[in-house]
Amino acid sequence: MSEFVKVAALSDLEEDTPKRVEIDGTPVSLVRTEGEVFAINDICSHANVSLSEGEVENCHIECWLHGSSFDLRTGKPDGLPATRPVPVYPVKIEGDDVLVSVTQES
Ligand code: FES
Repeated sequence: MSEFVKVAALSDLEEDTPKRVEIDGTPVSLVRTEGEVFAINDICSHANVSLSEGEVENCHIECWLHGSSFDLRTGKPDGLPATRPVPVYPVKIEGDDVLVSVTQES
């Protein structure tokens, strides 16, 4: 089952500038980049830091602390020190509404 909830307005999301939101207690980083919006869990899989404070490039978000870069489509890290993926979530756009479901990892 996947419950999509409205988390932001598309017009409020700046390109390549992550926005942290909480959905049912789950911290999520919303990233608008390359014509799409991605939702990735906001906590790095290496240590407890916020990915939304990192840089976005080439459909990846880079952890600011030790530099692992996570693919926004899959959540997989491209390099050490992180070895485990970060959950990513399905996103729907309806008009200007950005909806995310955290009950189902995509
Ligand atoms: S805390 Fe993110 S790579 Fe170390």
